[in-house]
Amino acid sequence: MGRIIVFANRKGGCGKTTTAVNAAHALTSHGRVLLVDMDAQAHVSIIFASAPHPENTILEVLEGRLALTEAISPSRIAGLELIYSSRNLGAYELGVGPDDEQALVLAEQLIPAQSLYDYIIIDPPPTLGVLMVASLVAAREVFIPMPMHFLAMEGLAEMM
Ligand SMILES: Nc1ncnc2c1ncn2[C@@H]1O[C@H](COP(=O)(O)OP(=O)(O)OP(=O)(O)O)[C@@H](O)[C@H]1O
Ligand SMILES: [Mg+2]
Repeated sequence: MGRIIVFANRKGGCGKTTTAVNAAHALTSHGRVLLVDMDAQAHVSIIFASAPHPENTILEVLEGRLALTEAISPSRIAGLELIYSSRNLGAYELGVGPDDEQALVLAEQLIPAQSLYDYIIIDPPPTLGVLMVASLVAAREVFIPMPMHFLAMEGLAEMM
């Protein structure tokens, strides 16, 4: 069963996406890797595809219109596959609110993918909404990237 890892922090711009993308690339030398973009900013999607994907994204998975395994796309890196984000994730988050059942969708959808990958890495948004909570519920390991300054310590305290 693959390890499910999230790089999360309530603070924005602290290196979550940079760490997720580079860890995902590096881990391809140890096994198959799936990188899941859970952020409406779609930075992972922009890094790999120059633009957010218009369809077959994590949004359709969260809305129950697509199985997670059907939303997997190849990347230009051997051994690394992606689930793209949608710009409409922000509107989705506003619509569902902090609903417990929505927070379970990602965890349930990741179950079949866990036997296909050695590492599943999730890149969440910086806000403590349902997308972040869903990422934390789905993950088994949480890493909190943090620049060494005072306000970042505040974000760490809130995460804990
Ligand atoms: N280890 C690092 N050292 C120096 N700069 C870094 C490091 N990691 C990331 N950065 C830079 O910090 C900026 C923010 O990084 P990144 O987008 O990964 O943060 P993020 O936490 O994902 O942001 P957001 O909260 O908006 O999703 C980028 O310009 C990135 O190049
Ligand atoms: Mg980011």
